[in-house]
Amino acid sequence: MFTCTATIDPAFTIAPVPPRLFGSFVEHMGRCVYGGLYEPGHPEAGTDGLRLDVAALTRELGVSTVRYPGGNFVSGYRWEDGVGPREDRRATLDLAWRSVEPNTFGLNEFMAWARETGVEPIMAVNLGTRGVQEACDLLEYTNFPGGTRYSDLRIAHGVREPHRIRTWCLGNEMDGPWQIGRKTGTAYGRLAAETAKAMRRVDPAIELVACGSSNERMPTFGTWEAEVLDEAYDVVDYISLHAYFGQQGDDRVGFLASAQVMDSFIEGVVATCDHVAAKRRSRRRLRLAFDEWNLWHEGRSAGEDHPEWARAPRLVEEEYTAEDAVVLGSLLMSLLRHSDRVAIACLAQLVNVIAPIRAEPGTRAWRQSIFHPFALTARHARGEVLRVEPVSPVLHSPTLGDVAAVDVTATRVPGTGETTVFAVNRDERRTAALAVRMAGEEHEVVEHVVLGGRDLLATNSGSAPHRVEPRGSARHRVEPAGLSAELPPVSWSMIRTAPRATAAAAREAAAH
Ligand code: AHR
Repeated sequence: MFTCTATIDPAFTIAPVPPRLFGSFVEHMGRCVYGGLYEPGHPEAGTDGLRLDVAALTRELGVSTVRYPGGNFVSGYRWEDGVGPREDRRATLDLAWRSVEPNTFGLNEFMAWARETGVEPIMAVNLGTRGVQEACDLLEYTNFPGGTRYSDLRIAHGVREPHRIRTWCLGNEMDGPWQIGRKTGTAYGRLAAETAKAMRRVDPAIELVACGSSNERMPTFGTWEAEVLDEAYDVVDYISLHAYFGQQGDDRVGFLASAQVMDSFIEGVVATCDHVAAKRRSRRRLRLAFDEWNLWHEGRSAGEDHPEWARAPRLVEEEYTAEDAVVLGSLLMSLLRHSDRVAIACLAQLVNVIAPIRAEPGTRAWRQSIFHPFALTARHARGEVLRVEPVSPVLHSPTLGDVAAVDVTATRVPGTGETTVFAVNRDERRTAALAVRMAGEEHEVVEHVVLGGRDLLATNSGSAPHRVEPRGSARHRVEPAGLSAELPPVSWSMIRTAPRATAAAAREAAAH
């Protein structure tokens, strides 16, 4: 056992919890759309072919916003191919994944699904093979009330009211050598700025996301952001970040500490944005859209052996372990900690492809291990994020150097004082004794759940969907100055507290 401390004071806040921090991502890739969201004829599908079991799990996951339709896919996509009567739609080549795109699911089907599941859409435009005009045409189709070519086309397609989509991504990973229509930072920045200018003329209410680097390891990371923002700073609202984490070689400690990599990635992008702002003498602060993030263990997924030009092949259907759930919970803690700048985050993807939800023909969809920390955080990270400074011993990672053994973050609802503490113990052998000093009134524990700590390689499956689930813990003690809790080795914990006067009611609510 080792000890660590954290101090929580309601006076020290970072920012309100951004509702769109709990977003996800649906790409026309593998079986995310076809065989995921949409599977006509499946016993769980409604009359429109949308899978009701997947929609129900999406709601349970607490997803607030979903980015669509890609991803790499969008860089070769013609949105017109996916609208209008289905019998007139033709299959097309998807050059990103070298699959055949049936186009039986498109923009209006996605919007119907988004309405059904109660999520706000984030739409991406193709700036790979297309440009300003096509982006404006799409926006006219989705957001313009009527009386023009594309708005009337939408009405002719049976959608009278405009979709009024608020947030738009200007392309996807335009720095990546794999991207169809890749550009230099300056060329992309100029195109993004001109597209933004024109799109805002169609609908001044929209928000726009410029592409940042595809990941922090890109050789142009930092330079890319600066070049793009030199062109587009004044006309975009967000810059994107993408990151997929996995274990490098034998460095398990480094994997468990992925959140520290996320912390420094976010802080590097913030620094670059503020550098550009300083050069321009701009007081405007750009916010960040971490619109793709997850765990992706290269080479671990099975079933990648499919013919080229298949329809909905099995791509990156990762099976996530209990240990992955611990890491994913800690990545959410990093996002919360940066909620003063990160306004949007999308767990990539939603179903089947590197996803918290898995769906198969013939059976009900199930929750992967990583579903649980996401759903718990989305539900209980409420109010304001508090500035918590944990004091913890360090562990050694061959790739990252010293990393904190224990990380802690917390949120608090100002009106009620209800507080949620999120904590991760990365030590592989030792339990951590965490002492949380809480300023202000005395609290009681309402709920204490733990993920991990045992059976770290366990996964969920269609036949065993409940192997990895959060379990209640009583390993805590309320003390005059706060509380103490035990964090098992390699575990993620959520401890909800409330002021003594309201704790009983909160506990009662938690039980239902
Ligand atoms: O999410 C899978 C892919 O990862 C996306 O298409 C792309 O944007 C990223 O490289």
